[in-house]
Amino acid sequence: MSDRPEIVFAPLGADPEAMCVVLADDDMALGARAKEFDSGSCGAILKAAEAAQFKGKKKSTAELLAPPRIGISRLLLFGIGKAADLKESDWVMLGGAIAGAISARKTTTASLIADVTSTTGAKAETIAALLAFGAALRLYEFRKYQTKKRNDEENAAPGGLKKLVIHCANPEKVRTAFARYEAVANGVVIARDLVNEPANVLGPIEFAERARDLENVGVEVEILDAEQIIDLKMGALLAVAQGSVRPARVAIMQWHGGKSKRAKPLAFVGKGVVFDAGGISIKPSSGMEDMKGDMGGAACVVGLMHALAERKANVNAIGIIGLVENMPSGSAMRPGDIVTSYSGQTVEVLNTDAEGRLVLGDLISYVEERFKPRLIIDLATLTGAIMVALGKEYAGLFVNDDKLADDLLAAALTTGEKVWRMPLDKAYDKMIESKNADIKNLGGRWAGACTAAAFLKSFVKDTPWAHIDLAGTAMDAPKSDISPSWGSGWGVRLLDRFVADKYEK
Ligand code: BES
Ligand code: MN
Ligand code: ZN
Repeated sequence: MSDRPEIVFAPLGADPEAMCVVLADDDMALGARAKEFDSGSCGAILKAAEAAQFKGKKKSTAELLAPPRIGISRLLLFGIGKAADLKESDWVMLGGAIAGAISARKTTTASLIADVTSTTGAKAETIAALLAFGAALRLYEFRKYQTKKRNDEENAAPGGLKKLVIHCANPEKVRTAFARYEAVANGVVIARDLVNEPANVLGPIEFAERARDLENVGVEVEILDAEQIIDLKMGALLAVAQGSVRPARVAIMQWHGGKSKRAKPLAFVGKGVVFDAGGISIKPSSGMEDMKGDMGGAACVVGLMHALAERKANVNAIGIIGLVENMPSGSAMRPGDIVTSYSGQTVEVLNTDAEGRLVLGDLISYVEERFKPRLIIDLATLTGAIMVALGKEYAGLFVNDDKLADDLLAAALTTGEKVWRMPLDKAYDKMIESKNADIKNLGGRWAGACTAAAFLKSFVKDTPWAHIDLAGTAMDAPKSDISPSWGSGWGVRLLDRFVADKYEK
């Protein structure tokens, strides 16, 4: 795992590190500690702020080098705007923006004075924990293969920061409040690392071993090898894998955190195509390297299961991921092939590049039959069409149950990981009817994301089910205050929150 700078908590009175960030709201009401600084430095801070016309506007900054008498080398005033207007996800974003500002200034240690209360009722310790969460997400880096740049001082990133000290009124309380967020941040990091890792290093076997690592946090992990998958007759998933020299794996992760061990679990299903060349319906070469990220759904499931286990979530949850590589070769499936899925439903393969749905269809049937879950949520980098519809800001949400849809939309609002509800409609079912088999894996020219969802729906019997198409958000996502990474780890925060708010209370 990438090592990020250490984040620790200290009392407000403690000596600040060489670089110190002080928050200021739009009334320029500096925190109490900042006023103390200012008296120590004979009002130099407020004077400098005035000279810089700094008024505490959100994300604006004013900087003092070697302010007199308070023994630090840099002081950064960081505007937060109107504290009362800030929601949970805004505090997280701010934490990320602050960490970004610190890294950009190259210092090995920094202090953040976080004694903020918000009139919305958020407690100072919650706000400090949210700021720390945002910083943890932002300070991620994936540089394990930059052996030269990484080791030279100038380029040591992010900014060479080793330690961030968060000063707050009650460090003990903040540490407790931060524990659950730290577990989630660790889950996001796991997901990002998996997505960023190149496919030569991370094949189905290696990915399954990463899932096995969850045993360290108390998750029960079962890995099905190719022979076991053949015995189970997952003919659709196996058809995708058959073109690769690297055999398929299915990893099943169980977290038994619920009060009753027999309570029905929530099931999360992930598409884990470690590389999607398209198969015989091969993709154009330009941009094909991005298809190392075609396992973003599976990465999210592993990250989520880690988060739930590390924070000891009071819930029973299953994660299941299908790990395959979609390659063209003499043994690859062909357009026109008809395969028999685990459910018995036959599928005519009209385009071997529409492979994700073949993998997910089998997993959905299997998890529904074996675990009788309360609900199923699948995550997949399933279609380019979802990006045509929604771009990279929103993931597509397809749901057969309005309550489940509302719960996911609510979690999206709280976390800022946005989803947009898309239609399931009988008209799309028609578009995947096949002349030669029960269904076909291709829907035609229009509504590609919707016909893909219709395909998955045909494998769900009678369980509330949601399909999240994260092709636009899981990889090559726009950089944000809390994500500097190509592999975004998208969905871990969303689903963790969904579980916490709706299934642990
Ligand atoms: N993995 C791709 C979808 C994808 C595209 C994800 C770009 C991320 C970025 C998926 O397997 C795929 O190839 N889908 C095809 C389906 C088509 C052949 C029906 C697509 O979207 O073009
Ligand atoms: Mn494909
Ligand atoms: Zn794919």
